[in-house]
Amino acid sequence: MCYAIPGKVSQIGNKKATVDYFGEQKTAINEIEDLKIGDYIYAQGGYVIEKIPESKALEILSVWRETFFDLHDLDLRLSRLELEKNGIDRKLGQILDNAAEGLALKNSDLLYLLKLEKENELNLLFKASNFLRAKHLSNSCCVHGIIEFSNHCSQTCKYCGISIENKNIARYRMRKAEISDTAFDAINKMGFKALVLQSGEDPGYSVDDLCEIVRDIKSRSAALIFVSFGEVGIDGLKKIYDAGARGLLMRFETSNSELYTRIHPGCELKTRLGHIREAYKMGYLILTGGLIGLPGQTIEDQLNDILLTKELNAEMYSFGPFIPHPDSFLRDRHSPKPNDILKVLAVSRIIDPKNAKILVTTGFETVDKKAREIGLMAGANSVMLNVTPKKYKKLYSIYPNRAHENEELQEQIGTTLSLLKRLGRAPTDLGVSI
Ligand code: 5AD
Repeated sequence: MCYAIPGKVSQIGNKKATVDYFGEQKTAINEIEDLKIGDYIYAQGGYVIEKIPESKALEILSVWRETFFDLHDLDLRLSRLELEKNGIDRKLGQILDNAAEGLALKNSDLLYLLKLEKENELNLLFKASNFLRAKHLSNSCCVHGIIEFSNHCSQTCKYCGISIENKNIARYRMRKAEISDTAFDAINKMGFKALVLQSGEDPGYSVDDLCEIVRDIKSRSAALIFVSFGEVGIDGLKKIYDAGARGLLMRFETSNSELYTRIHPGCELKTRLGHIREAYKMGYLILTGGLIGLPGQTIEDQLNDILLTKELNAEMYSFGPFIPHPDSFLRDRHSPKPNDILKVLAVSRIIDPKNAKILVTTGFETVDKKAREIGLMAGANSVMLNVTPKKYKKLYSIYPNRAHENEELQEQIGTTLSLLKRLGRAPTDLGVSI
């Protein structure tokens, strides 16, 4: 779980610490050498990231205590599952009952869910997924930050607006110190505890440069760093891990290898999967998933995408809609409907009820203004805020008119926290700002 409410260490074992949060015990990997029982810490993504003084922890916990239990109660009320089955066909009722009881569903049942179209049936599916989220993972919601530090890219992905083939966009590349300062502010001034560093596959930074960026951020601030630099090679991944990165955000985009090669000319799905699998073995937390609604993708492909995400041991499921970019090869195609996106989030929750962090992506927010709310009420429990300096944000145009591209960070944080509060969710990695 990502709890960034301070926790108290109650036990220390082999590289693991047990941490107490208002009576709930969680375990986290510990890399802090002198950690002792009784210390107060921040944990994130299953890692102890920082020790904090007792007086500060107690002050923060006193603010949280009441809010924590209030939010909990509200979430429980909102996620109650009353399977009103009037007018619902028996097969659907049966499948959702099985899911709610934690029984594994057959692939044919999962496909049945992904093919639902009627509004009342879809609502029932979304409710069942939200129920599972609340039952197993309670009300915590990850709020990670992302810095998009370069839109240069050597790749030719047919859907992407920053592909090397797009000659119509201005390119930018942040300097190393600028990236590190942006991360420093996000962590130390805005309270983020987990940050994703993302760029196109930019030959302007060597692996050593990327390591230097990660190392510099880690030396100045306590946070969990995820990297998303594209394919840096297995040696590159290892070096970046050693520099201090602990998560890899790398979508496989589609589990259909023919479709993969069609939209990534000259590339193979197995190479990408090799990266993700090796990264997992090295100890990286894996954030992965695919694009929903790619031209030529079937519902069976979508199910395989979700199953593959689970097989890859994903810590976080990142599924967003394909959105046509006017300067890309797929400019004339269209995005999927919001319900088609929600179905993928909901079925992901059903397939991985106990562990998955499921992200409501900016892509989803771009095709539907209410995406965060409806996504969080359909099994999702994670959002990502863009902390890229405003002057660059618009240029990271992987698809057009991205949600929040004109908002100040402070505004984004404010609207996110008030939505979470309204839904009874605890923003467990933005400190105590609620
Ligand atoms: N629509 C939606 N998502 C896109 N991405 C790139 N181009 C598009 C698009 N047109 C996503 C890819 C990639 C991530 C960084 O951005 O899934 O993994």
